[in-house]
Amino acid sequence: NEGSLWGGRFASGPAAAMAALSKSTHFDWVLAPYDIRASKAHARVLNSAGLLTAGDLETMLTGLDGLAADVDSGAFAPAESDEDVHGALERGLIDRVGPDVGGRLRAGRSRNDQVATLFRMWLRDAVRRVSTGVLGVVDALATQAAAHPDSVMPGKTHSQAAQPVLLAHHLLAHTHPLLRDVQRFQDFDKRAAVSPYGSGALAGSSLGLSPEKIAAELGFDSSAENSIDATSSRDFAAEAAFVLAMTAVDLSRLAEEIVSWSTPEYGYVTLADAWSTGSSIMPQKKNPDVAELTRGKTGRLIGNLTGLLATLKAQPLAYNRDLQEDKEPVFDSVAQLELLLPALAGLVETLTFDIDRLRSLAPAGFTLATDIAEWLVRQGVPFRVAHEAAGECVRVAERRGVGLDELTDAEFAAIDTALTPEVRKVLTVDGSISSRDSRGGTAPMQVAAQLGGVRATAENL
Ligand code: ARG
Repeated sequence: NEGSLWGGRFASGPAAAMAALSKSTHFDWVLAPYDIRASKAHARVLNSAGLLTAGDLETMLTGLDGLAADVDSGAFAPAESDEDVHGALERGLIDRVGPDVGGRLRAGRSRNDQVATLFRMWLRDAVRRVSTGVLGVVDALATQAAAHPDSVMPGKTHSQAAQPVLLAHHLLAHTHPLLRDVQRFQDFDKRAAVSPYGSGALAGSSLGLSPEKIAAELGFDSSAENSIDATSSRDFAAEAAFVLAMTAVDLSRLAEEIVSWSTPEYGYVTLADAWSTGSSIMPQKKNPDVAELTRGKTGRLIGNLTGLLATLKAQPLAYNRDLQEDKEPVFDSVAQLELLLPALAGLVETLTFDIDRLRSLAPAGFTLATDIAEWLVRQGVPFRVAHEAAGECVRVAERRGVGLDELTDAEFAAIDTALTPEVRKVLTVDGSISSRDSRGGTAPMQVAAQLGGVRATAENL
Protein backbone atom coordinates (compact mmCIF):
# COMPACT_ATOMS: atom_id res chain seq x y z
CA ASN A 1 0.00 0.00 0.00
CA GLU A 2 2.68 2.43 -1.10
CA GLY A 3 1.91 6.15 -0.72
CA SER A 4 -0.67 5.50 1.98
CA LEU A 5 -0.34 7.01 5.44
CA TRP A 6 -2.40 4.36 7.19
CA GLY A 7 -1.60 0.82 5.94
CA GLY A 8 -0.87 -1.01 9.24
CA ARG A 9 -4.24 -2.40 10.26
CA PHE A 10 -5.33 -3.24 6.71
CA ALA A 11 -4.73 -6.56 5.02
CA SER A 12 -5.30 -5.08 1.59
CA GLY A 13 -5.04 -1.70 -0.10
CA PRO A 14 -8.15 0.25 -1.04
CA ALA A 15 -10.33 -0.82 -3.96
CA ALA A 16 -9.72 1.23 -7.10
CA ALA A 17 -13.04 3.08 -6.83
CA MET A 18 -12.37 3.77 -3.13
CA ALA A 19 -8.96 5.23 -3.95
CA ALA A 20 -10.41 7.30 -6.78
CA LEU A 21 -13.10 8.73 -4.51
CA SER A 22 -10.63 9.48 -1.75
CA LYS A 23 -8.07 11.21 -3.88
CA SER A 24 -7.52 14.96 -3.53
CA THR A 25 -4.07 15.60 -5.04
CA HIS A 26 -5.61 17.13 -8.17
CA PHE A 27 -6.76 20.10 -6.09
CA ASP A 28 -4.88 20.08 -2.79
CA TRP A 29 -1.46 20.13 -4.44
CA VAL A 30 -1.54 23.95 -4.24
CA LEU A 31 -1.03 23.48 -0.50
CA ALA A 32 2.35 21.75 -1.04
CA PRO A 33 4.61 24.77 -0.38
CA TYR A 34 2.66 25.49 2.83
CA ASP A 35 2.81 21.83 3.86
CA ILE A 36 6.61 21.86 3.55
CA ARG A 37 6.97 25.15 5.45
CA ALA A 38 4.83 23.73 8.25
CA SER A 39 6.82 20.48 8.23
CA LYS A 40 10.03 22.41 8.75
CA ALA A 41 8.47 24.18 11.74
CA HIS A 42 7.21 20.83 13.03
CA ALA A 43 10.66 19.28 12.68
CA ARG A 44 12.12 22.05 14.82
CA VAL A 45 9.63 21.54 17.63
CA LEU A 46 10.27 17.79 17.49
CA ASN A 47 13.93 18.61 18.00
CA SER A 48 13.15 21.03 20.87
CA ALA A 49 11.06 18.29 22.51
CA GLY A 50 14.01 15.89 22.30
CA LEU A 51 12.33 13.67 19.68
CA LEU A 52 14.72 14.43 16.84
CA THR A 53 18.51 14.71 17.13
CA ALA A 54 20.28 17.80 15.84
CA GLY A 55 21.78 15.67 13.07
CA ASP A 56 18.43 14.23 12.03
CA LEU A 57 16.91 17.70 12.12
CA GLU A 58 19.59 18.94 9.74
CA THR A 59 19.00 16.00 7.41
CA MET A 60 15.25 16.55 7.52
CA LEU A 61 15.43 20.30 6.88
CA THR A 62 17.82 19.79 3.96
CA GLY A 63 15.53 17.08 2.59
CA LEU A 64 12.48 19.34 2.92
CA ASP A 65 14.28 22.23 1.19
CA GLY A 66 15.26 19.91 -1.66
CA LEU A 67 11.67 18.67 -1.87
CA ALA A 68 10.35 22.26 -1.94
CA ALA A 69 12.68 23.08 -4.84
CA ASP A 70 11.54 19.96 -6.71
CA VAL A 71 7.88 20.77 -6.10
CA ASP A 72 8.53 24.27 -7.34
CA SER A 73 10.27 23.12 -10.53
CA GLY A 74 7.77 20.35 -11.12
CA ALA A 75 10.45 17.66 -10.74
CA PHE A 76 8.40 16.20 -7.88
CA ALA A 77 4.68 15.72 -8.47
CA PRO A 78 1.95 13.56 -6.94
CA ALA A 79 1.93 9.93 -8.07
CA GLU A 80 -1.11 7.81 -8.89
CA SER A 81 -0.68 6.06 -5.53
CA ASP A 82 -0.79 9.28 -3.48
CA GLU A 83 -4.07 9.98 -1.73
CA ASP A 84 -3.45 13.62 -0.87
CA VAL A 85 -0.78 16.29 -0.77
CA HIS A 86 0.33 15.23 2.72
CA GLY A 87 0.95 11.62 1.73
CA ALA A 88 2.70 12.59 -1.47
CA LEU A 89 5.10 14.89 0.35
CA GLU A 90 5.93 12.28 2.99
CA ARG A 91 6.75 9.89 0.16
CA GLY A 92 8.97 12.58 -1.40
CA LEU A 93 10.76 13.23 1.89
CA ILE A 94 11.38 9.54 2.53
CA ASP A 95 12.76 9.20 -1.03
CA ARG A 96 15.24 11.93 -0.18
CA VAL A 97 16.30 11.21 3.42
CA GLY A 98 15.33 7.56 3.89
CA PRO A 99 12.58 6.00 6.04
CA ASP A 100 14.52 6.24 9.28
CA VAL A 101 14.69 10.04 9.37
CA GLY A 102 11.73 10.74 7.04
CA GLY A 103 9.47 8.48 9.05
CA ARG A 104 9.97 10.56 12.21
CA LEU A 105 8.33 13.72 10.91
CA ARG A 106 4.74 12.66 11.41
CA ALA A 107 5.00 12.21 15.18
CA GLY A 108 2.48 14.35 17.08
CA ARG A 109 0.55 15.65 14.12
CA SER A 110 -2.35 14.49 11.99
CA ARG A 111 -3.59 15.40 8.57
CA ASN A 112 -6.54 16.90 10.40
CA ASP A 113 -4.57 19.64 12.10
CA GLN A 114 -2.25 19.90 9.12
CA VAL A 115 -4.91 20.49 6.51
CA ALA A 116 -6.81 22.97 8.67
CA THR A 117 -3.59 24.95 9.17
CA LEU A 118 -2.43 24.84 5.55
CA PHE A 119 -5.83 25.88 4.24
CA ARG A 120 -5.74 28.93 6.54
CA MET A 121 -2.22 29.81 5.38
CA TRP A 122 -3.17 29.48 1.72
CA LEU A 123 -6.32 31.53 2.17
CA ARG A 124 -4.64 34.32 4.11
CA ASP A 125 -2.19 34.77 1.22
CA ALA A 126 -4.92 34.40 -1.40
CA VAL A 127 -7.17 37.12 0.00
CA ARG A 128 -4.19 39.48 0.04
CA ARG A 129 -3.73 38.87 -3.69
CA VAL A 130 -7.44 39.33 -4.29
CA SER A 131 -7.44 42.54 -2.23
CA THR A 132 -4.66 43.93 -4.42
CA GLY A 133 -6.78 43.11 -7.47
CA VAL A 134 -9.83 44.80 -5.96
CA LEU A 135 -7.75 47.91 -5.26
CA GLY A 136 -6.77 47.85 -8.95
CA VAL A 137 -10.43 48.25 -9.90
CA VAL A 138 -10.86 50.99 -7.27
CA ASP A 139 -7.86 52.76 -8.75
CA ALA A 140 -9.27 52.52 -12.29
CA LEU A 141 -12.59 54.01 -11.10
CA ALA A 142 -10.80 56.79 -9.18
CA THR A 143 -8.64 57.59 -12.22
CA GLN A 144 -11.73 57.92 -14.42
CA ALA A 145 -13.41 60.07 -11.75
CA ALA A 146 -10.36 62.33 -11.62
CA ALA A 147 -10.35 62.64 -15.40
CA HIS A 148 -13.99 63.85 -15.41
CA PRO A 149 -14.20 66.45 -12.64
CA ASP A 150 -17.15 68.35 -14.13
CA SER A 151 -18.86 65.88 -16.45
CA VAL A 152 -22.52 65.31 -15.59
CA MET A 153 -24.91 62.44 -16.18
CA PRO A 154 -28.52 61.46 -15.50
CA GLY A 155 -28.78 59.96 -12.04
CA LYS A 156 -31.42 57.27 -11.79
CA THR A 157 -33.52 55.44 -9.25
CA HIS A 158 -35.73 52.53 -10.31
CA SER A 159 -33.84 52.87 -13.64
CA GLN A 160 -35.88 56.07 -14.20
CA ALA A 161 -34.48 59.57 -14.61
CA ALA A 162 -34.09 61.00 -11.09
CA GLN A 163 -31.66 63.89 -10.58
CA PRO A 164 -28.53 64.94 -12.45
CA VAL A 165 -25.26 63.91 -10.79
CA LEU A 166 -21.57 64.24 -11.51
CA LEU A 167 -20.16 61.31 -13.49
CA ALA A 168 -17.28 61.22 -10.99
CA HIS A 169 -19.77 60.90 -8.13
CA HIS A 170 -21.41 57.90 -9.77
CA LEU A 171 -18.07 56.22 -10.53
CA LEU A 172 -16.87 56.76 -6.98
CA ALA A 173 -20.09 55.21 -5.66
CA HIS A 174 -18.73 51.88 -6.91
CA THR A 175 -15.43 52.30 -5.04
CA HIS A 176 -16.93 52.37 -1.54
CA PRO A 177 -18.38 48.83 -1.47
CA LEU A 178 -15.11 47.55 -2.93
CA LEU A 179 -13.08 49.31 -0.25
CA ARG A 180 -15.37 47.77 2.37
CA ASP A 181 -14.76 44.34 0.80
CA VAL A 182 -11.02 44.82 1.24
CA GLN A 183 -11.68 45.81 4.86
CA ARG A 184 -13.77 42.64 5.23
CA PHE A 185 -10.81 40.59 3.99
CA GLN A 186 -8.69 42.25 6.66
CA ASP A 187 -11.26 41.46 9.35
CA PHE A 188 -11.36 37.87 8.13
CA ASP A 189 -7.59 37.71 8.48
CA LYS A 190 -7.72 38.59 12.18
CA ARG A 191 -9.87 35.54 12.90
CA ALA A 192 -8.00 33.30 10.45
CA ALA A 193 -4.67 34.08 12.11
CA VAL A 194 -5.07 31.28 14.68
CA SER A 195 -3.10 28.09 14.04
CA PRO A 196 -4.67 24.62 14.44
CA TYR A 197 -1.21 22.98 14.22
CA GLY A 198 -0.56 20.83 17.28
CA SER A 199 -4.21 19.86 17.69
CA GLY A 200 -3.43 16.42 16.26
CA ALA A 201 -6.39 14.39 15.03
CA LEU A 202 -8.70 16.14 17.52
CA ALA A 203 -7.36 15.85 21.08
CA GLY A 204 -3.92 17.48 21.05
CA SER A 205 -0.55 15.81 21.37
CA SER A 206 1.15 13.89 24.18
CA LEU A 207 4.64 14.62 22.89
CA GLY A 208 5.35 17.96 24.56
CA LEU A 209 5.41 19.90 21.27
CA SER A 210 4.82 23.64 21.23
CA PRO A 211 1.83 24.73 19.11
CA GLU A 212 2.57 28.39 19.94
CA LYS A 213 6.08 28.12 18.55
CA ILE A 214 4.83 26.64 15.26
CA ALA A 215 2.04 29.22 15.09
CA ALA A 216 4.53 32.08 15.39
CA GLU A 217 6.88 30.53 12.87
CA LEU A 218 4.06 30.21 10.33
CA GLY A 219 2.96 33.81 10.73
CA PHE A 220 -0.10 33.18 12.91
CA ASP A 221 -0.98 35.46 15.83
CA SER A 222 -1.70 32.57 18.19
CA SER A 223 -2.45 28.85 18.38
CA ALA A 224 -5.91 27.35 18.83
CA GLU A 225 -7.54 27.26 22.26
CA ASN A 226 -9.52 24.11 21.51
CA SER A 227 -8.10 21.25 19.44
CA ILE A 228 -11.56 19.84 18.63
CA ASP A 229 -12.75 23.19 17.28
CA ALA A 230 -9.47 23.80 15.49
CA THR A 231 -9.59 20.58 13.48
CA SER A 232 -13.30 20.62 12.65
CA SER A 233 -14.42 24.23 12.13
CA ARG A 234 -14.37 25.81 8.71
CA ASP A 235 -16.20 29.05 9.44
CA PHE A 236 -12.98 30.81 8.40
CA ALA A 237 -13.37 29.31 4.92
CA ALA A 238 -17.06 30.20 4.75
CA GLU A 239 -16.28 33.74 5.87
CA ALA A 240 -13.71 34.11 3.11
CA ALA A 241 -16.13 32.56 0.60
CA PHE A 242 -18.72 35.14 1.63
CA VAL A 243 -16.38 38.09 1.20
CA LEU A 244 -15.23 36.68 -2.14
CA ALA A 245 -18.86 36.32 -3.25
CA MET A 246 -19.76 39.78 -1.90
CA THR A 247 -16.86 41.25 -3.86
CA ALA A 248 -18.15 39.56 -7.00
CA VAL A 249 -21.67 40.87 -6.32
CA ASP A 250 -20.28 44.39 -5.95
CA LEU A 251 -18.29 44.02 -9.19
CA SER A 252 -21.37 42.67 -10.96
CA ARG A 253 -23.31 45.87 -10.20
CA LEU A 254 -20.64 47.87 -12.01
CA ALA A 255 -20.48 45.26 -14.78
CA GLU A 256 -24.22 45.42 -15.37
CA GLU A 257 -24.01 49.18 -15.83
CA ILE A 258 -21.15 48.88 -18.29
CA VAL A 259 -23.18 46.38 -20.31
CA SER A 260 -26.10 48.83 -20.50
CA TRP A 261 -23.96 51.94 -20.96
CA SER A 262 -22.23 50.45 -24.01
CA THR A 263 -25.47 49.76 -25.89
CA PRO A 264 -26.37 52.24 -28.66
CA GLU A 265 -29.61 52.99 -26.81
CA TYR A 266 -27.67 54.40 -23.84
CA GLY A 267 -24.56 55.41 -25.73
CA TYR A 268 -22.78 56.49 -22.53
CA VAL A 269 -19.46 54.71 -23.20
CA THR A 270 -17.32 53.11 -25.86
CA LEU A 271 -15.26 50.08 -24.87
CA ALA A 272 -11.60 49.84 -25.85
CA ASP A 273 -10.88 47.22 -28.52
CA ALA A 274 -8.44 45.41 -26.25
CA TRP A 275 -11.16 44.82 -23.67
CA SER A 276 -14.03 43.74 -25.92
CA THR A 277 -14.70 40.92 -28.32
CA GLY A 278 -16.24 40.48 -31.74
CA SER A 279 -18.78 38.08 -33.14
CA SER A 280 -17.96 35.12 -35.35
CA ILE A 281 -20.90 35.92 -37.62
CA MET A 282 -21.90 39.57 -37.17
CA PRO A 283 -19.03 41.77 -38.34
CA GLN A 284 -20.34 44.95 -36.70
CA LYS A 285 -20.35 43.53 -33.17
CA LYS A 286 -18.31 44.76 -30.25
CA ASN A 287 -19.32 42.89 -27.16
CA PRO A 288 -18.78 43.70 -23.45
CA ASP A 289 -17.60 40.19 -22.54
CA VAL A 290 -15.45 41.28 -19.59
CA ALA A 291 -18.50 42.82 -17.95
CA GLU A 292 -20.70 39.86 -18.85
CA LEU A 293 -18.21 37.33 -17.49
CA THR A 294 -18.09 39.41 -14.30
CA ARG A 295 -21.86 39.13 -14.02
CA GLY A 296 -21.81 35.44 -14.93
CA LYS A 297 -19.00 34.39 -12.62
CA THR A 298 -20.76 36.13 -9.75
CA GLY A 299 -23.40 33.39 -9.89
CA ARG A 300 -20.62 30.85 -9.62
CA LEU A 301 -19.11 32.53 -6.56
CA ILE A 302 -22.49 32.66 -4.84
CA GLY A 303 -22.81 28.93 -5.61
CA ASN A 304 -19.40 28.27 -4.10
CA LEU A 305 -20.48 30.00 -0.89
CA THR A 306 -23.83 28.23 -0.57
CA GLY A 307 -22.28 24.89 -1.54
CA LEU A 308 -19.67 25.23 1.19
CA LEU A 309 -22.26 26.21 3.79
CA ALA A 310 -24.32 23.17 2.81
CA THR A 311 -21.25 20.96 3.27
CA LEU A 312 -20.66 22.37 6.74
CA LYS A 313 -24.27 22.19 7.88
CA ALA A 314 -24.95 19.71 10.71
CA GLN A 315 -21.53 18.08 10.72
CA PRO A 316 -20.88 16.56 14.13
CA LEU A 317 -17.59 17.20 15.90
CA ALA A 318 -14.78 16.61 15.19
CA TYR A 319 -13.11 16.08 11.78
CA ASN A 320 -15.25 14.33 9.14
CA ARG A 321 -14.11 13.47 5.69
CA ASP A 322 -16.91 15.71 4.35
CA LEU A 323 -14.49 18.50 5.16
CA GLN A 324 -12.32 17.53 2.22
CA GLU A 325 -15.05 19.23 0.16
CA ASP A 326 -14.18 22.59 1.78
CA LYS A 327 -11.28 23.56 -0.45
CA GLU A 328 -12.42 23.39 -4.10
CA PRO A 329 -15.20 26.00 -3.84
CA VAL A 330 -12.92 28.47 -2.12
CA PHE A 331 -9.99 27.78 -4.45
CA ASP A 332 -12.35 28.33 -7.36
CA SER A 333 -13.74 31.62 -6.02
CA VAL A 334 -10.20 32.93 -5.62
CA ALA A 335 -9.15 31.71 -9.08
CA GLN A 336 -12.17 33.32 -10.78
CA LEU A 337 -11.56 36.67 -9.09
CA GLU A 338 -7.88 36.53 -9.97
CA LEU A 339 -8.91 36.18 -13.62
CA LEU A 340 -11.61 38.79 -13.43
CA LEU A 341 -10.07 41.64 -11.48
CA PRO A 342 -7.23 42.62 -13.83
CA ALA A 343 -9.55 42.41 -16.83
CA LEU A 344 -12.23 44.54 -15.20
CA ALA A 345 -9.64 47.10 -14.11
CA GLY A 346 -8.39 47.23 -17.70
CA LEU A 347 -11.91 47.65 -19.04
CA VAL A 348 -12.80 50.48 -16.62
CA GLU A 349 -9.50 52.28 -17.14
CA THR A 350 -10.02 52.42 -20.91
CA LEU A 351 -13.74 53.34 -21.05
CA THR A 352 -14.37 56.39 -23.21
CA PHE A 353 -17.36 58.37 -21.93
CA ASP A 354 -19.50 60.35 -24.37
CA ILE A 355 -19.64 63.35 -22.07
CA ASP A 356 -21.67 65.50 -24.49
CA ARG A 357 -24.37 62.88 -24.72
CA LEU A 358 -24.34 62.38 -20.95
CA ARG A 359 -24.76 66.15 -20.52
CA SER A 360 -27.64 66.33 -22.99
CA LEU A 361 -29.41 63.44 -21.25
CA ALA A 362 -28.87 64.79 -17.73
CA PRO A 363 -31.97 67.07 -17.63
CA ALA A 364 -34.16 64.72 -19.69
CA GLY A 365 -37.18 63.32 -17.87
CA PHE A 366 -37.63 66.55 -15.84
CA THR A 367 -34.78 65.66 -13.48
CA LEU A 368 -34.74 69.26 -12.23
CA ALA A 369 -38.22 69.04 -10.71
CA THR A 370 -36.81 68.46 -7.23
CA ASP A 371 -34.80 71.65 -7.67
CA ILE A 372 -38.01 73.64 -8.10
CA ALA A 373 -39.48 72.08 -4.96
CA GLU A 374 -36.34 72.70 -2.89
CA TRP A 375 -36.07 76.28 -4.21
CA LEU A 376 -39.67 76.92 -3.06
CA VAL A 377 -38.83 75.47 0.37
CA ARG A 378 -35.95 77.93 0.61
CA GLN A 379 -38.54 80.69 -0.10
CA GLY A 380 -40.50 79.52 2.95
CA VAL A 381 -43.10 77.34 1.16
CA PRO A 382 -44.03 74.09 3.00
CA PHE A 383 -42.56 71.05 1.21
CA ARG A 384 -45.98 69.44 0.60
CA VAL A 385 -47.12 72.53 -1.27
CA ALA A 386 -43.77 72.86 -3.05
CA HIS A 387 -43.86 69.22 -4.20
CA GLU A 388 -47.37 69.74 -5.63
CA ALA A 389 -46.33 72.93 -7.43
CA ALA A 390 -43.20 71.33 -8.92
CA GLY A 391 -45.30 68.38 -10.04
CA GLU A 392 -47.68 70.78 -11.77
CA CYS A 393 -44.72 72.42 -13.53
CA VAL A 394 -43.79 68.96 -14.89
CA ARG A 395 -47.38 68.41 -16.03
CA VAL A 396 -47.53 71.74 -17.90
CA ALA A 397 -44.07 71.29 -19.46
CA GLU A 398 -44.86 67.74 -20.50
CA ARG A 399 -48.15 68.85 -22.11
CA ARG A 400 -46.37 71.59 -24.04
CA GLY A 401 -43.38 69.37 -24.88
CA VAL A 402 -40.82 71.77 -23.38
CA GLY A 403 -38.21 71.67 -20.61
CA LEU A 404 -38.94 73.05 -17.11
CA ASP A 405 -36.72 76.07 -17.78
CA GLU A 406 -38.85 76.93 -20.84
CA LEU A 407 -42.05 77.56 -18.91
CA THR A 408 -43.16 81.18 -19.18
CA ASP A 409 -43.25 83.60 -16.24
CA ALA A 410 -47.04 83.54 -16.50
CA GLU A 411 -47.18 79.76 -16.40
CA PHE A 412 -44.97 79.68 -13.30
CA ALA A 413 -47.05 82.38 -11.58
CA ALA A 414 -50.29 80.58 -12.43
CA ILE A 415 -49.03 77.44 -10.74
CA ASP A 416 -47.93 79.22 -7.54
CA THR A 417 -47.42 82.90 -6.88
CA ALA A 418 -44.18 82.04 -5.09
CA LEU A 419 -42.77 80.80 -8.42
CA THR A 420 -41.06 84.03 -9.55
CA PRO A 421 -38.76 84.07 -12.63
CA GLU A 422 -35.87 83.79 -10.14
CA VAL A 423 -36.57 80.03 -10.01
CA ARG A 424 -34.87 79.64 -13.39
CA LYS A 425 -31.43 79.99 -11.81
CA VAL A 426 -31.78 76.50 -10.28
CA LEU A 427 -33.15 75.04 -13.52
CA THR A 428 -29.78 74.19 -15.02
CA VAL A 429 -27.95 70.91 -14.61
CA ASP A 430 -24.84 72.60 -13.22
CA GLY A 431 -26.90 74.76 -10.86
CA SER A 432 -28.74 71.72 -9.58
CA ILE A 433 -25.53 69.74 -9.07
CA SER A 434 -23.64 72.55 -7.32
CA SER A 435 -26.55 73.13 -4.96
CA ARG A 436 -26.25 69.60 -3.52
CA ASP A 437 -23.21 70.44 -1.45
CA SER A 438 -23.93 68.53 1.73
CA ARG A 439 -21.24 66.05 2.78
CA GLY A 440 -21.35 63.09 0.41
CA GLY A 441 -23.45 65.07 -2.10
CA THR A 442 -22.87 65.50 -5.81
CA ALA A 443 -21.55 69.10 -5.82
CA PRO A 444 -18.07 69.33 -7.40
CA MET A 445 -16.35 70.39 -4.16
CA GLN A 446 -17.88 67.46 -2.28
CA VAL A 447 -16.96 64.98 -5.00
CA ALA A 448 -13.38 66.28 -5.11
CA ALA A 449 -13.14 65.80 -1.34
CA GLN A 450 -14.61 62.32 -1.71
CA LEU A 451 -12.04 61.39 -4.37
CA GLY A 452 -9.27 62.44 -1.99
CA GLY A 453 -10.84 60.30 0.74
CA VAL A 454 -11.18 57.25 -1.50
CA ARG A 455 -7.54 57.48 -2.54
CA ALA A 456 -6.36 57.93 1.03
CA THR A 457 -8.43 54.95 2.23
CA ALA A 458 -7.17 52.77 -0.63
CA GLU A 459 -3.57 53.70 0.12
CA ASN A 460 -3.88 52.87 3.82
CA LEU A 461 -5.45 49.44 3.32
N1 ARG B 1 -7.44 15.33 2.58
C1 ARG B 1 -8.19 15.59 3.79
C2 ARG B 1 -8.87 16.95 3.75
O1 ARG B 1 -8.64 17.66 2.82
C3 ARG B 1 -7.27 15.54 4.96
C4 ARG B 1 -7.05 14.15 5.33
C5 ARG B 1 -7.75 13.79 6.55
N2 ARG B 1 -8.14 12.44 6.36
C6 ARG B 1 -8.40 11.61 7.32
N3 ARG B 1 -8.71 10.44 7.01
N4 ARG B 1 -8.36 11.98 8.56
O2 ARG B 1 -9.65 17.31 4.59
